[in-house]
Amino acid sequence: MEEVSRHNLAHDCWIVVDGKVYDVTHFHKNHPGGSAIIVANAGKDVSELFRPIHPPKTLETNLVEDQFMGFIDPKEAAKSRENLAKEVDRIQTARDALMPVERVLSLDEMQAAAESILSDRSRDYYAAGALDSYTREANRTAFHKCRLLPRVMRDVSSVSPQTTIFGQPSALPIYISPASNALLGHPEGELNLTRGAARTGLVQGISAASSFSLTDILDERDRLKEDESPYDLALAYQVYVQTERSRTEVLVKEAVERGVQALLLTADTNVLGCRETTDRIKGVTGNVSPGARMGPFTEYPAYHDAKQCWADLPWLKRLAGDIPIYLKGVCTIEDVRLARDHGLAGCILSNHGGRQLDQARTAFDSLRAIHDEDPELLKQIDIYIDGGIRRGTDVLLALAYGAKGVGLGRPFLWAQTAYGEQGVIRAVRIMESEIVMAMRLLGITRIDQINASMAECIQEVWR
Ligand code: HEM
Ligand SMILES: Cc1cc2nc3c(=O)[nH]c(=O)nc-3n(C[C@H](O)[C@H](O)[C@H](O)COP(=O)(O)O)c2cc1C
Repeated sequence: MEEVSRHNLAHDCWIVVDGKVYDVTHFHKNHPGGSAIIVANAGKDVSELFRPIHPPKTLETNLVEDQFMGFIDPKEAAKSRENLAKEVDRIQTARDALMPVERVLSLDEMQAAAESILSDRSRDYYAAGALDSYTREANRTAFHKCRLLPRVMRDVSSVSPQTTIFGQPSALPIYISPASNALLGHPEGELNLTRGAARTGLVQGISAASSFSLTDILDERDRLKEDESPYDLALAYQVYVQTERSRTEVLVKEAVERGVQALLLTADTNVLGCRETTDRIKGVTGNVSPGARMGPFTEYPAYHDAKQCWADLPWLKRLAGDIPIYLKGVCTIEDVRLARDHGLAGCILSNHGGRQLDQARTAFDSLRAIHDEDPELLKQIDIYIDGGIRRGTDVLLALAYGAKGVGLGRPFLWAQTAYGEQGVIRAVRIMESEIVMAMRLLGITRIDQINASMAECIQEVWR
């Protein structure tokens, strides 16, 4: 460890994870969590910081053999292994105490089940909102401002919640919104989402920051096809434009060549938002020397390209060929119009689950603004929303104001954390029963029957 501690500078930077020493001098500049975090921990054992927010295969997939420098003193390594073993025991005990999956009745109960298993840091990673989390909270309360207007005396004995999402058939008007690092919650990670989506007929959004590689997920889709799974799984690959564009190109080409059905270009992460809970995990508190900047809070990690702009669309469209592109992370009418004018297939109104700009408007409020100010726009380009959707009634409110469908992010991360594939299926069944029940009580039998005459906005609710 003494030798390691001498490599504690940006241009000579070693770290230790679980007894193994790595030279990350070149890697830290491209670290998705920012280089400052790693440099601040240069020359140290970062196992406890690293483990809860990085899935198991992170080191193998991001570093090459030459960057592995050897092992630390076996005694110190034993301490680290002991901590790891304790954590494995804790998780097993928590899993044993879970209620059977079929007794979980709501997505909030699914969250509670998952959070009983996750380490504090992993729980915070999934839950985190930017700054004071006003937007994350508002994503849920936005739906409290509206009410549904049920029609009565109608035959609702036979109801179908089927629709299309990103141009693909979908059993429900919801999809799995791409969210990173599913492996933090469960050893099968994103593969649980792939299997759950294939067995229930949902579209799966694949995060560019998935813990399983795109190749692994596409292989799983192909395997499920041979397995005669009941639905043809449709996949939407989410694109992050990286500063090193060639890395993005490789991923998009693979997605396109292997037949994903849509690309979701995330537009709200030119820089990462400030999530204090995860920033604290990073172990950097800033620098108070005169003239110094505030460390990770003002740093632009090299992973996300801060230069990403509308002029990049022809490049992405060329790579996409015939595959439709949806812009994810849009908030304003002006940007929806620009997306339409650039020939995109649609927009996902979203604030990244409240993880980027705190105080940003909720997607549901953005949708209502479009509905009120420029309803024609909803006919010119497909609009989806995500953020805070936890109930079938939230889904129907979004559809009433013109959304074609809605994405759920955290609920599927939690569902797979708690119960793996079965959890994902259960989460879909919960939403299905709530959507079908709400359709019946509203007096409609098909998704295309819902419209704005079935909802109203009551006085603003301040919380
Ligand atoms: C050299 C080993 C490391 C590798 C290969 C690595 C790799 C990664 C990868 C692939 C991500 C992306 C996950 C995502 O986008 O959500 C990430 C994010 C992150 N990393 Fe690391 N990392 C390393 C070291 C560290 C260390 C030492 C720390 C802290 C002490 C750290 C803190 C973080 C944080 C906080 C994020 C989340 C960024 C965010 O979403 O806010 N990493 N890392
Ligand atoms: C832990 C976590 C990771 C996420 N990772 C990504 C990502 O890699 N790419 C992306 O476009 N959106 C990402 N999102 C945002 C989701 O796609 C979605 O916009 C958001 O979670 C919706 O809010 P909800 O969690 O309240 O459903 C992430 C969200 C969470 C909570």
